Amino acid sequence: MINVAIDGPAGAGKSTIAKAAAKKLGFIYIDTGALYRTVGVNALRRGVNMESNEEIAATLTDTLNVELKFIDSQQRMFLNGEDVSEEIRTPEASMAASRVSAVPAVRAYLFDLQRNIAKENNCLMDGRDIGTVVLPDAQVKIFLTASAEVRAKRRYNELTQKGIQCGYDDVLSDMIKRDYDDSHRAIAPLKPAEDSVTVDTSNFTLEQSVEAVIKTIEDKINV
Ligand code: DC
Repeated sequence: MINVAIDGPAGAGKSTIAKAAAKKLGFIYIDTGALYRTVGVNALRRGVNMESNEEIAATLTDTLNVELKFIDSQQRMFLNGEDVSEEIRTPEASMAASRVSAVPAVRAYLFDLQRNIAKENNCLMDGRDIGTVVLPDAQVKIFLTASAEVRAKRRYNELTQKGIQCGYDDVLSDMIKRDYDDSHRAIAPLKPAEDSVTVDTSNFTLEQSVEAVIKTIEDKINV
């Protein structure tokens, strides 16, 4: 199977770009942030103290069921049978996802699910630690990034288009905090894999970004 790992900070356009590139290549696209978001929403619903690793780890019970399904070729997330694909996109869910993702038990809980999908499919998988931890043997590893201001502007537009109320300054400060937390946590921090190719999309349109990603993949696979 051909596995492409795409890592990078929040709002780099990973999901939009990877989705479009996967479609062109005929690969499936897996958004692993959605898994952490689903565990985060579960923790929020359970009302646990989000500062406590123990309380977050205690939400990973035998009865917790996190499922990823493809419906009309779209990835949907299910929490104990309920479709939470929209709920996981709120700013609260973003912060909760970042919090739970720093808990080792959560990362271990989601590891096999990610590995098994990659084993069985040609896929583009995006996240923070795909090239470094989840798929260290991926044939192609891309670190997709853009400046914090460009990323905040894109995320702000995306949220307001969905009718989610927010201010640009809050989106930017949330993003800077998440970048810091994601890249400074003790376990699986966000960092480029040694053998990754960095693609900076700050000055690219969506089409140019997709082209740059596809070209990087084709260059590697055809070598
Ligand atoms: O990509 P995203 O914004 O949907 O990710 C939500 C959070 O989940 C992000 O703050 C970091 C975490 N995450 C992670 O730790 N590892 C991944 N492979 C994907 C996401």
